Amino acid sequence: MSSKRKVPFSGSWRMPALGTVHFMKPLHMRSPVPQGRRHTLPASEFRSLSPEDAISVFEIEREAFISVSGECPLHLDEVRHFLTLCPELSLGWFEEGRLVAFIIGSLWDQERLSLDALTLHRPHGSTVHVHVLAVHRTFRQQGKGSILMWRYLQYLRCLPYVRRAVLMCEDFLVPFYQRSGFHVLGPSEITVGPLTFTEMFYPVRGHAFMRRNSGC
Ligand SMILES: CC(C)(COP(=O)(O)OP(=O)(O)OC[C@H]1O[C@@H](n2cnc3c(N)ncnc32)[C@H](O)[C@@H]1OP(=O)(O)O)[C@@H](O)C(=O)NCCC(=O)NCCS
Repeated sequence: MSSKRKVPFSGSWRMPALGTVHFMKPLHMRSPVPQGRRHTLPASEFRSLSPEDAISVFEIEREAFISVSGECPLHLDEVRHFLTLCPELSLGWFEEGRLVAFIIGSLWDQERLSLDALTLHRPHGSTVHVHVLAVHRTFRQQGKGSILMWRYLQYLRCLPYVRRAVLMCEDFLVPFYQRSGFHVLGPSEITVGPLTFTEMFYPVRGHAFMRRNSGC
């Protein structure tokens, strides 16, 4: 089967409020120092994205994907779509208020990804489909992609209804995701012209011990 246009990177519903997860709390909620009025933007902040962040997301996608191949994993309307339906499954890394890296996910309810998974959010699914992970060009090769994915997977472990995460990527990024704990599922049925993809999964539920001991 061929995809009509998608180029996967490679990158809601009934979730607890993101702010209840310790590592995603705004910095001012975690700081032990007395709080005064903040006059500067936080140096580094992780938070879920909202539809208002869609333009910033798409700017990174434009540079990372469209300028390279003419396509991108999520078009602007799709970014808005997922950030409206399931913002809790997104995670942005902001430096002094500027988005430097992000992940967008949604729920899926099948064992493997099909074309529908590229555009649909299945609220009763137990699989998180990681649509895209991208890092702003000037911040790549600094560990940010790996760190953001690590934080995201930590967060997923705190969601009792999430069984696993899946993504599809080009072969050259398989080692990158393996280092984050993903395993190869096999070739994806989705192709884009001559491009083929490998499907990978991360066993969120398999980390029950870590979930029990993670303070979720
Ligand atoms: C892929 C991406 C998310 C990685 O984030 P990052 O912050 O740059 O990655 P990190 O610094 O955490 O890790 C670096 C490692 O990622 C892997 N990696 C990153 N980009 C890679 C690429 N283009 N090809 C192969 N491996 C790559 C390498 O293993 C690299 O380690 P190395 O330099 O020692 O070989 C980021 O580079 C990105 O957003 N790229 C633009 C989007 C893109 O090209 N996606 C792939 C299109 S299918």
